[in-house]
Amino acid sequence: MTSATTLFFPVEKDLLQLTENLKNLVGIRHPILYAAAEHLFSAGGKRIRPAIVLLVSRATLPPNQDITPHHRRLAEITEMIHTASLVHDDVVDEANTRRGVPTVHSSFGNRIAVLAGDFLFAKSSWYLANLNNLEVVKLLSQVIMDLAEGEIRQGLKRFDTALSIDDYLEKSYYKTASLIANSAKAAALLSGLSASRSENLYLYGRHIGLAFQIVDDILDFTGSSETLGKPAASDLQDGNLTAPILYALEQQPALELLIEREFAQPGDLEQAIALVRSSDGIDRSRHLAAHHRQLAIQSLADLPPSESHTTLIELTDYVLSRLY
Ligand code: IPE
Ligand code: IPE
Ligand code: MG
Ligand code: MG
Repeated sequence: MTSATTLFFPVEKDLLQLTENLKNLVGIRHPILYAAAEHLFSAGGKRIRPAIVLLVSRATLPPNQDITPHHRRLAEITEMIHTASLVHDDVVDEANTRRGVPTVHSSFGNRIAVLAGDFLFAKSSWYLANLNNLEVVKLLSQVIMDLAEGEIRQGLKRFDTALSIDDYLEKSYYKTASLIANSAKAAALLSGLSASRSENLYLYGRHIGLAFQIVDDILDFTGSSETLGKPAASDLQDGNLTAPILYALEQQPALELLIEREFAQPGDLEQAIALVRSSDGIDRSRHLAAHHRQLAIQSLADLPPSESHTTLIELTDYVLSRLY
């Protein structure tokens, strides 16, 4: 598998600087919050979101022009918002590992994890305001609302077998694609692109974000806990009905009963996992992800050729290649 790090070649230096800055940006006034956040920043993560912001920044500027401190700050804000959402998500999901290390709540307790997430959201809003660009502030504030909306929708629809693929995609937009879409659009606006041309970058982010979430949901069935850095096969157990499960439901009526009784009887969960794996749910989900990958690539059509443009296309391959 291509590693994200070699793929991000045009923005490799930018990402190193970003990692250093993230630690400083969190600040040292609150030692516990710093410890909680530092823990995640040091553990890393794939840095896909800031890489997209930096690549869009470079791809939308004239070739001889370097990205501005505002572009860099936007990339940092994007990763900070993402990390905050993960800290909260791990509380909601009661997940013990993230990025291959213990989660913030399992090390410091739920109270600290909730506060640490809030702190990161607030800190990112503060840096956002300091970009002095009202349109960009609006785009990223919408993202923070969308993240909460996505988690709430998912929480309300647990074990609900009436969920449709469209509901699932809408929820996935709120939870995952909104951040990528709006931060990509914001980067284009910071480069001075018109509103309508910036909208194409929004669409790129929206579709690569959906593909990314669908792939992540497939990996929940096909990956191991070690490679994922987090527990495997947990979506079904939690009643989070993702694309592979929704497609399997159309084909395997027995699955509905197991989900509706919330795997109350011994062996229910194992049987349900087997039913999903033996259906064509995983294959159809792959097709759905590939469809959104194609739409993401089409959205880049009006960008001039550049190294960063090429990498944005290759990144869509990387998202899908995580499956193989
Ligand atoms: C995890 O995102 C949350 C999802 C949207 C599935 P990533 O898989 O990008 O997490 P990190 O940043 O690499 O840890
Ligand atoms: C991650 O969601 C958090 C957001 C995208 C806001 P999930 O719960 O689906 O993903 P993992 O499995 O924890 O990474
Ligand atoms: Mg989770
Ligand atoms: Mg979750």
